[in-house]
Amino acid sequence: MRPSLLEHLCCPACRAPLKLGEVKVDGGWIEEGSLTCTGCALVYGIEYGVPNFVEPRGRADVQQTTSGFARNWNAFNDIILEDEKLNDELFRDWILPMDPEVMRGKIVLEPGCGMGRWLRVAATYSPKILIGLDYSEVAYTAGRNTKDLENVHVVRADILRMPLKTKIELTYCLGVVHHTPEPSRTFDALVEAMSPAGAMCVWVYGKENNGWIHNFVTPMREHVTSRLPHGLLNVMSKVLAAQLYLMAGAYKLGLEKLGMPYADYLRYLRRYPFRYMEHIVYDHLVPQIAHYHSGPELEGWAKKNKLQYLLSPRNNNSWRLHVAWSQAQLPGKAEPAAGLRAEA
Ligand SMILES: C[S@@+](CC[C@H](N)C(=O)[O-])C[C@H]1O[C@@H](n2cnc3c(N)ncnc32)[C@H](O)[C@@H]1O
Repeated sequence: MRPSLLEHLCCPACRAPLKLGEVKVDGGWIEEGSLTCTGCALVYGIEYGVPNFVEPRGRADVQQTTSGFARNWNAFNDIILEDEKLNDELFRDWILPMDPEVMRGKIVLEPGCGMGRWLRVAATYSPKILIGLDYSEVAYTAGRNTKDLENVHVVRADILRMPLKTKIELTYCLGVVHHTPEPSRTFDALVEAMSPAGAMCVWVYGKENNGWIHNFVTPMREHVTSRLPHGLLNVMSKVLAAQLYLMAGAYKLGLEKLGMPYADYLRYLRRYPFRYMEHIVYDHLVPQIAHYHSGPELEGWAKKNKLQYLLSPRNNNSWRLHVAWSQAQLPGKAEPAAGLRAEA
């Protein structure tokens, strides 16, 4: 951790400022040590260069979900970081219609940053500071992956208990909210961290056009795959990824004309190398917690917080929800026809 992160942090329990305890510093980087609350005297460790605010005895399903992801993201760290151009393209697509250039000079937050693939991309758009936050031990990987980026900081913390004193001007949160026990409450916590001029982009799984997932994948995931040992799930992911890879390849060869279902999703998947796809499959099978949200439900989240919003579909099976306190801060206007099309 860089000492300059301290000015943005506070105690997640009582909101008082924190002070550094004894630390081991290496070239201006705090590798190990502690932070003590000046109000309630709670002590938080700094481990592998990342301050840790996660309470040790969290909910079992949250621990299972986040540590399952950590295992997966750590195993595929190299392949995920390999192609910077692909990651930039993917990131731009995930946050559409927001232009990442709006990050320039802003205080930006990525809650649920995983191993930091988007932190590396977002940092190139010159935010003033960019804070990545994750519940699991994958935060240490994110810290290591972004150590060379002066404007990036990483903390290990729960979105429901964020140790942030600084209000956030721009938040992007991709693939995280639907993996928390109460997504609507998680969304509220992110809204609370927004500055009065703040804006946010949240991407979540859609309920629409995912019928086979509700009927088949979700029960399998909840009762079987999330309980499998890592080795077995790994093999299963390879087998399924091979099938998906072939389907995406067939799509590339022109089978789209036959009207294969999930056309948009396959078109998107064919950009990935095989190992990246293995990672995607594992990610779908490992968590105990995964929710699928309808458009009206997401509009409800924005409305109850009195936020202006823009809802747009992605790959015809998921949603990007952009929110801000005023219409002018949104990255565009809703199109009347915008929505998820029913798959054939
Ligand atoms: C599917 S991964 C997505 C990672 C990253 N957003 C990306 O797209 O590369 C979901 C991440 O959310 C994190 N997460 C889940 N619940 C969280 C919570 N309550 N607080 C912070 N992070 C959380 C997990 O640990 C995991 O790294």
